[in-house]
Amino acid sequence: MKSSEVRRSFIEFFKGKEHREVPSAPVIPHGDPTLLFTNAGMNQFKDVFLATGARPYTRAVDTQKCIRASGKHNDLEDVGRDTYHHTFFEMLGNWSFGDYYKEEAIAWAWELLVDVWGLSVERLHATVFETDDESYEIWKKYLPESRIHRCGAKDNFWEMGATGPCGPCSEIHYDRTPDLSGAKLVNAGVQEVIEIWNLVFMQFNRMPDGELKPLDKRHVDTGMGFERICAILQNQTSNYDTDIFAPLLQRLSELSGRVYKHDLDDPDSTAMRVIADHIRTLSFAIADGALPGNTGRGYVLRRILRRAARYARNLGFNEPLMFKLVGVLSDQMGEVFPELVQQREMIERVVRSEEESFLQTLERGLERFDEIVNNLRAAGAEELVVPGADAFQLYDTFGFPLDLTELIARERGIGVDQAGFDEHMAQQKARSREARKVHHQEVDVPVLDVKTAFVGYERESAESEVLYAEENRVVLAETPFYAESGGQVSDTGIITMGGEEYNVVDVRKSGDAIVHIIDGEVEALTGSTALARVDRARRAGIRANHSATHLLHEALRRVLGDHIKQEGSLVHPDYLRFDFPHFEKPNAADLNRIEEMVNAKIREFIPVVTRELPIDEARDIPGVRMFFGDKYGDSVRVVTIDDSYSIEFCGGTHVANTSEIGLFKITGESSIAAGVRRLEAVSGVGVQQFISGLERSLTKEKSTVEELQGKIREMQKEIDKHRAAELAGGVDDYIKQAKNHGDIRIVAQRVAADSMDQLKNLGDELRAALATRGIGLLALEIDGKAQLVCVVTDDLKKQYPAGKLVGIAAKALGGGGGGKPHMATAGGKDLDKLDEVLAGFVDTVAGFGS
Ligand code: ALA
Repeated sequence: MKSSEVRRSFIEFFKGKEHREVPSAPVIPHGDPTLLFTNAGMNQFKDVFLATGARPYTRAVDTQKCIRASGKHNDLEDVGRDTYHHTFFEMLGNWSFGDYYKEEAIAWAWELLVDVWGLSVERLHATVFETDDESYEIWKKYLPESRIHRCGAKDNFWEMGATGPCGPCSEIHYDRTPDLSGAKLVNAGVQEVIEIWNLVFMQFNRMPDGELKPLDKRHVDTGMGFERICAILQNQTSNYDTDIFAPLLQRLSELSGRVYKHDLDDPDSTAMRVIADHIRTLSFAIADGALPGNTGRGYVLRRILRRAARYARNLGFNEPLMFKLVGVLSDQMGEVFPELVQQREMIERVVRSEEESFLQTLERGLERFDEIVNNLRAAGAEELVVPGADAFQLYDTFGFPLDLTELIARERGIGVDQAGFDEHMAQQKARSREARKVHHQEVDVPVLDVKTAFVGYERESAESEVLYAEENRVVLAETPFYAESGGQVSDTGIITMGGEEYNVVDVRKSGDAIVHIIDGEVEALTGSTALARVDRARRAGIRANHSATHLLHEALRRVLGDHIKQEGSLVHPDYLRFDFPHFEKPNAADLNRIEEMVNAKIREFIPVVTRELPIDEARDIPGVRMFFGDKYGDSVRVVTIDDSYSIEFCGGTHVANTSEIGLFKITGESSIAAGVRRLEAVSGVGVQQFISGLERSLTKEKSTVEELQGKIREMQKEIDKHRAAELAGGVDDYIKQAKNHGDIRIVAQRVAADSMDQLKNLGDELRAALATRGIGLLALEIDGKAQLVCVVTDDLKKQYPAGKLVGIAAKALGGGGGGKPHMATAGGKDLDKLDEVLAGFVDTVAGFGS
C-alpha cells in the first residue's frame, strides 16, 4: 500500500465510525507558550480536554504534522542512528471528547490493524499501565496474556509536557523477530519490536506544582506513527525504505554520487538519513512561519540545520545542499500539505542562506576542534573531555551549537564539559545585560512598596495624592503618564505640586509603582495633592505611531509572508521603527504595496477597539498576534483594528479611529543583522514634517543647481573667449596660405570652431586682418553638415558680394544661404564635396569676376 493510501485509509476508517475529519494544526503552535512545536495530534485539542474550549463534534480524526526536537518529547539524538525515530513525522490520530472510551478505542484499533490492514495477529503486543485492569481485561479478548504487558509510568502514562492533559495509556507494539520472540523486547528501544500506536485515556491535568487534577470528563487521544505503519505495510524494516523517504534519499544519492545502503553502521547512509529527516523538519516549520534564529524555537531550527550541514560536509559537500531537497519534498507531499508548495521559494531561500552562513565558519570550526583534541592529547589527559571554555568558543565564534560539538566529540569517543559551557554562556549573558544597562543609562529606581494606578488610557491629566517624592523621583497614587514598555517610549509632561511645576522627562516602572523622573529636585511633599499632565501633542504623535505600527505589522505579513513577526519596535512621537525577520531586501514595489495598504486602512475610518480579556479567551481569538515566550498575566489587553485585519496583545496607547493617523509614509529600510530588516516610518504630523523637510532640501538643491548653472555659463564664456583667441591666432596662418587672383588674396579654409557663432567671429577676425583686397571662405563641420561663412573686405564687396559667393559654394554642397555683401553664411549637406569646394573657391571668385 502506498503511503498516501495508508493515510487515506486511516482517515476513512474513522470517518466510517462517525469521526469528523479535521486538518492538521500548524507545526508551530499559536497561543500555547508551553510548547515550541506541535508534538502530538492532541495539541490542538488541549482546550477541549481541559474544558476551557469546545468543538461542535465529539469524535475527530486527522493526520498531524509533529516535530519532536525539544522539550519533553525530543527524538533528535536518535535520528539517523536508528530506523524509526524522526524529528518530523506525521501522527495519525482519532479522538473521543467525552464520548467513547477504552472499549471502543481498543476494538477499533484492532479492527483497523487486523481486519482492514491484515497485520498478522501473532506479531501484535499490547501494553497497559500497571494498575489499569480495565484495559488489561479488554485486551484479553484479542490477545493471549503472554502478549499483554503491564508497564510503569515511564512508558504507559502519557503527558503532553511539564503541565497539561495526561493519563494512562495502552500501546500496541509490532514484533518483527523472525521467530516471534519479541515479548522481551517490548519497550526495549530496538527496531525488532516497535511501538506503532498509542491509545491514551485522558483523565488528568498535570498542574505546575506536579499535582494531578482529575478532568471533568474522560477522553480518548490516540496517535499512530505514520512512517512506522507505512514501513510495516510496505514490508520494510526501516522507515527510510518506504516511499516517504525514497525520493529524498534518491536525490541525495544523485547529488553526492554515493550509494544509500540499508546499513545502520555506514556513515554515508547515516548522513543521508539525518539530512532527509532534518530537511522535512525545517521545511514544515518554515512553511508554518518559523525561522532559524538565536533563541527559542528559532535556535532549535538553527541547531537542526547546522547538524544536517555538518553531515552534508561528511558526504563531501562544501557548498549548500539542503535547499536542493525542498523541491523534492514539496513535489512529494504538496498535495496533502499545500503550504509546502505555497512557501517553497521562501523555504529554499531561508535554508540556503542559513547553510551559506554556517559554511563560512564550519571548516575553521572543525580545524579548531582538531586543535582542541590535539592539545588534550598532548597534555596526556586520561579521559578526553572538551573543556567548557573551548566548547563555548566553538559556539560563540564558529556557530557550533553545543549538541553539534557533543555529536562530533562523541564520534571520536570524547566527552564535553557541559556545565563549563553553561557557565560561560551565563557569563556572556550577564555581560550583555550589563552592556545594555549602560547603553540605556538605566535610572536607579528603588523598589517601592507603593502602587500606582495607570489612568492614561482614558485621560491625559489626573489629580492625585503624592505617595513618594525624593530627589528627582515622584510617585503618585494615580497617573496618566505611560512608562516605557513594549517599544512605546515614556510620556513627558508636567507635574504641579506645592505651587511648583516640575518637568517630567522620563517615566519608569518599579514594582507596582510608576516613577516620574523630573529634571530637578523635589521638596518632600508626600501626602499632598499633585496635578499630573502629559504633553498632549507628543502623546498624540505616539498614539498615531503606535496604531500605525499595528497596521504596518499586518501589512508586512500580508505582503511579505507569514514569517513576519515583530522582533523589535520603537514607537516615538516623531517616528516609528519596526524590526522583522526577512532574508532579503524588500523591493520597492512591495514597500509601496505595504505603504498603500496601511494608508488604505487609515482612510477606511476603522475604530480601534481595546479590550481587557482573560488570557485563555484572548489566546483563542482567531488571527490574534501575541509574542511567543512573553509572560502574560491572567488578563491581557487586546487591540483590534478591524477584526479581520489586526488583532494584537498590546499595552500601549492608541488612537480611537485609524483616520486620526492621517497619513503614513515609509522613510527608510535597512538591514540590522543577518536576516533582520528594519523599517522606519512616520505618520500624521510626521508626514507633514517629512514633506516640509523634503521641500526644504528641494529648495536648497534647486538654488544649488541654479548656482551651478550660473557657474557653468560663466565658465562656458571663458572657454569661448579662449577658443576665439586661439582661433584668431590661426587667422594669420590662413592668410599666409591664401591664393591670389590678381592682387586679391583668397582664403579658403576648413576651421575647428565649435559653433556657428564662433565661425562668424572668426570670419570677422579674418576680414579685419585682411583689411583690403581680400576674400575669405571658412567652413565648419557640425552635425554632419557643412557650415560656411564668407567675408569680403569693404573695397571688394560691391564687385564680389559675399552673399552671392557663399550661395555658389553652398549650392555645390547641396544647400543654400545668403547674407550681406561683406559677410554671409550658408550650409550644405554634401560634406564629402567640401574639400573640393574649398579648393575651387579661387576659381569661383575668378569666374564670378569675369
Ligand atoms: N498523544 C499521544 C502520543 O503522542 C497519543 O503518543
